[in-house]
Formats: sequence, C-alpha cells, structure tokens
Amino acid sequence: MTPAFHFYEPRDGHRLPHDPFNAIVGPRPIGWISTRSRAGALNLAPYSFFNAFNYVPPIVGFASVGYKDSVRNIEETGEFAWNLATRPLAEQMNQTCAAVPPEADEFALAGLTPSPSRLIGVPRVGESPVSMECRLTQVVQLQRADGETVPTWLVLGEVVGVHIDATLLRDGIYDTAAAQPILRGGGPADYFAIGPEQLFRMFRPR
Ligand SMILES: Cc1cc2nc3c(=O)[nH]c(=O)nc-3n(C[C@H](O)[C@H](O)[C@H](O)COP(=O)(O)O)c2cc1C
Repeated sequence: MTPAFHFYEPRDGHRLPHDPFNAIVGPRPIGWISTRSRAGALNLAPYSFFNAFNYVPPIVGFASVGYKDSVRNIEETGEFAWNLATRPLAEQMNQTCAAVPPEADEFALAGLTPSPSRLIGVPRVGESPVSMECRLTQVVQLQRADGETVPTWLVLGEVVGVHIDATLLRDGIYDTAAAQPILRGGGPADYFAIGPEQLFRMFRPR
C-alpha cells in the first residue's frame, strides 16, 4: 500500500495547525552568541539556526531572522563568542532572548557572568562549560530561489579559541553527553536534552 504523505508548497502555506519545518529539521544545537557593540554594550542571545560548517579552520554560523543586535555588533567589531547552552543553564538561556533595547545587557538580565576571552574583546558566558572565540568571516544575506533577497543574515565565523571545562574531558576525549547540551525542537516550547542514553556508535563503511 502506498503510504499517504502530506505534501505542501511552503509559499502556499502548510495547512497544518503549526508549521512543521522547525520540528522536522531538529533538534538543532543552539548558538548562544555573545557580542559587544562598538560602544561597548554587551549582548547575549540564542540562535537555533546554528551549526558547525567546517573542520580546518573550524567555522560556525548562525542565521539572524531580521537584522538583530547580534549581527550589527559582529559587523561592528568582527568578533563573537559561541557558548554551549546546557540543561542547568536552560532557563537563563531562555531569558537572554528577551526583546530588549540594544544597550540592555542580557548577561546581567539573566544573572550570568561575562568572563574575559583570551583572543577577542567579547566575553564568554562564565557559567557555560564550553565556549568558542570567533572572528567574523562572512555575513551572507539569504535569498529566495528566484534571487529575491530575504531579511535574514547568515553570520559565519572562524573559531580561533576554544574553552572546555576540563571535567568534560575523559582521558582527553570530550564527553558530549556529560555536558548536558540542550537542543531546540519545534513549536513554541519544545527542547531536547541529551544524555548518554541517546548515544549509539556506527563507523563509516571501509
Ligand atoms: C532557543 C531559541 C532559539 C532562537 N533562534 C533564533 C534564530 O535562529 N534566529 C533568530 O533570528 N532568532 C532566534 N531566536 C530569537 C532571538 O534569540 C531573539 O530575537 C533575540 O532577542 C535576539 O537578540 P539580539 O537582538 O540581541 O541579537 C531564538 C530564541 C530562542 C529562545
């Protein structure tokens, strides 16, 4: 029997109670991005359109839907830090997405400690067990298939420094599950937490 598929063309609507796109392409890692404006104001915000894109050099990127403070700051200074959002920091991560004026400091708002970075002028989240110091490589405005631009900016940066809480290194191997990373699902409120029970191993065919 042929399985039934719900098919839709996004430009015409999905005909479902909620847009399934985010729930399908997920759970996604969270880019918890700290920046500083040229004037010195600190900023911290979560971006789930985030991922790693290259090994050598390591490159990470996030998409800002709308030209947000984070993008403006990064264009001004050429720097940002990525911080790992974990289960114990979930509530505080969530507080940093509040729509507040550019001069408002989300570190203070969420009770987080700005810890100095080693190579860049932007602080990392002191409570986060992993942070990456990044230098801007590209800002790409996204476009539709017909070339029409959309108001979304993909920000890519080279990772120039990495901080790892040493307790997450077991015999030198980084223990992903021990960090309890959280990931974003779909809908208004879905998140996933990662623990050792989600781990399985599969090697590439030779
Ligand atoms: C878990 C989570 C993921 C988010 N992902 C994105 C995203 O990928 N892109 C985006 O533009 N906004 C995203 N937001 C909303 C931004 O965090 C929010 O607009 C924030 O105020 C932007 O901060 P800024 O203006 O200081 O840069 C997300 C919010 C949360 C809580």
